[in-house]
Amino acid sequence: MEIVVLDDPRACGRAVADAVAEALARDTGPPVTLGLATGSSPLPAYTELVRRHRDEGLSFAGARAFLLDEYLGLPAGHPQSYREVIRRELTDHLDIDPAAVHAPDGTRADPEAAAADYERLLAASGPVDLQILGIGGNGHIGFNEPGSPFGSRTRVTTLTARTRADNARFFTRPADVPHRVLTQGLATITGARRIVLVATGESKRAAVAATVAGPVTTAVPATVLRDHPHCTLVLDRAAAGPDRAGLVAAGQVGTPGRGR
Ligand code: GLP
Repeated sequence: MEIVVLDDPRACGRAVADAVAEALARDTGPPVTLGLATGSSPLPAYTELVRRHRDEGLSFAGARAFLLDEYLGLPAGHPQSYREVIRRELTDHLDIDPAAVHAPDGTRADPEAAAADYERLLAASGPVDLQILGIGGNGHIGFNEPGSPFGSRTRVTTLTARTRADNARFFTRPADVPHRVLTQGLATITGARRIVLVATGESKRAAVAATVAGPVTTAVPATVLRDHPHCTLVLDRAAAGPDRAGLVAAGQVGTPGRGR
């Protein structure tokens, strides 16, 4: 696991955007497939990608994208549904075909069938070239909460009280945060060729330390990434914490894209 420590969230955003640009530069074979995360951590990267598209001609034409997860029970078009968030924050401002941006369908009457369909669609599309991830304060990735099996696939699951509380800031009232969600499983996520996890701010420090240096355990879902052949953690100084040396010892600190 490669670890990159940068000054601040904007620098992290530029590093993640570099990884996306690198993935897009592969111009042979099937369409480039991006895995997109929501939450606030990737937003500086999305702002930077929109800027590069507008000012530098970075093109997403021909690429396709898959979201990690979605709330269940929000009506189609709800501003906090992840499909809407990613449209508003990113894809509406790029030249990607809107029909090539996929999300688990949280509005289906049969969510189990929606999960199975999404997993099938992902499998049929071939591996994700670059998966962007954030991390929850309890070490969750996507909506794979502690205890999620490392072999899990896209499924319906239930949020912990902590994650609902963490995500309450996006909703009018805390009670409005859905309890149930659809998420790619941990085995689905780690099927990506390359993974870049971005974590910023002091509130992520404990989860980052556990991910990098703690035991590999389903109690910290992000530790599944330790076995991935090409995973980079992009951290700001606040998320890395004063014990940067501990992270250095546990991982490989370097610059993004410089290898594994
Ligand atoms: C949600 C998302 C995750 C995200 C996490 C952290 O639970 N499902 O994909 O990583 O929030 O969000 P933030 O980056 O806002 O801290």
